[in-house]
Amino acid sequence: MDKIVIEGGVPLKGTVRVSGAKNAALPVLAATLLARGIHRLHNIPSLRDVETMKKIMSRLGVGFEQEMDTLVVDSTQVVDHEAPYDLVKTMRASILLLGPLLASYGKARISLPGGCAIGARPINLHLKALAEMGVDMHLDRGYINAQAKFLKGAEIFFDIPTVTGTENIMMAAVLARGTTVLRNAAKEPEIQDLAEYLRKMGALIQGAGTDTIVIEGVPELKAVDHAVIPDRIEAGTFMIAAAMTRGDVRIEKCRPEHMTALLEKVESAGAKLDVGQEFIRVLGPETIQSVDIKTLPYPGFPTDLQAQFMAFMCIAEGWSMIRETIFENRFIHVSELRRMGADIEINSNQALVRGKEALLAAPVMATDLRASASLILAGLVAKGGRTEVHRIYHLDRGYEALEKKFRDLGANIWREKE
Ligand code: EPU
Repeated sequence: MDKIVIEGGVPLKGTVRVSGAKNAALPVLAATLLARGIHRLHNIPSLRDVETMKKIMSRLGVGFEQEMDTLVVDSTQVVDHEAPYDLVKTMRASILLLGPLLASYGKARISLPGGCAIGARPINLHLKALAEMGVDMHLDRGYINAQAKFLKGAEIFFDIPTVTGTENIMMAAVLARGTTVLRNAAKEPEIQDLAEYLRKMGALIQGAGTDTIVIEGVPELKAVDHAVIPDRIEAGTFMIAAAMTRGDVRIEKCRPEHMTALLEKVESAGAKLDVGQEFIRVLGPETIQSVDIKTLPYPGFPTDLQAQFMAFMCIAEGWSMIRETIFENRFIHVSELRRMGADIEINSNQALVRGKEALLAAPVMATDLRASASLILAGLVAKGGRTEVHRIYHLDRGYEALEKKFRDLGANIWREKE
């Protein structure tokens, strides 16, 4: 197992390029099952979650070949319909295969994802919607066995706007008979990206990016090329790091229009921003002002940046209130940040962060993907020696070459074997 070692105190300087979005790449990969043929995908990040998705899909019969920056996906011969427990347990997003398998092959057997470090994360809304589309499902030894002679369009109301739920049902509906209307749908940019890919394939989708999506089923889709959008969470992590270390960083190949909630908060914290069509330059403030945040579905402040923003607020002047409204247990990084001297009080889903002049280097443990990023950010500003972040495999699930990118910006950060 690897750990990341950081000697903090260096203001980040230079230019960094953002990779393709993990949470856009995963549904797009799953969607290749909807049209037999050769799909050429660009900007797919090299991440453990992407590898896991490829592994599961390889077992189904899908072929993958990397040609320079292009991932060539051959979905001509799908021979199996099962996502097994040993892989699903390492990546919940495997559930994204359910909709496309049912739409294309009328059957799927997917291991039910278990609990998760950040919350219970049920998939009841995915299953309820599929049942409304005529899918017959039963649980068998931890697997969902699902089948349908054909999927029928339906009026679906999501009690909660669920990101992968909206994606799953959108993928099921594109080949269904009739019209599907998704109400209270999630509006994340990754959903818009998936819809764009599906439209190129020949799907009839309207309203993706709003809370009502209308899908007219078509008999068949065709394989096409697609480039996934840049990762707004990675870009946001660099923005926070630049501001926190009082650096000067130009973040390139990003989509600032996907990041308005964060831009506003980082600016309120005192950073100076220069925002272009595809770049953001961040000049860190002399004094970091405390700012409150509340995580919300898009376009609100993303839960996937809450932990990183909390690390930022640990060295702000004054008190900051951080409210987490998406996941019930997404404060596990708090006890690790406390080991670095942070003053944080938790009351249910609210964390009161009292800013300190400095954080202190310490060995800490990563507990989930975004918590790992938060601890690395804390390490970049910590005083008094080396911060070691253990259990770094969480980080490799969702950040491409993060420590190399930080090193290129001047940080003293490297990876070591435990
Ligand atoms: N929910 C239900 N029932 C469902 C589905 C969701 O109660 O059937 C609840 C969840 O428990 C949660 C809320 O609805 O409280 C929203 O969850 P959502 O379904 O939107 O989350 P997700 O689709 O499982 C995606 C991202 C997460 C990101 C969330 C929220 C992917 C592959 N994952 O998860 O990304 O935090 O949306 O934006 O797109 C990450 O990248 O680190 C990550 C966790």
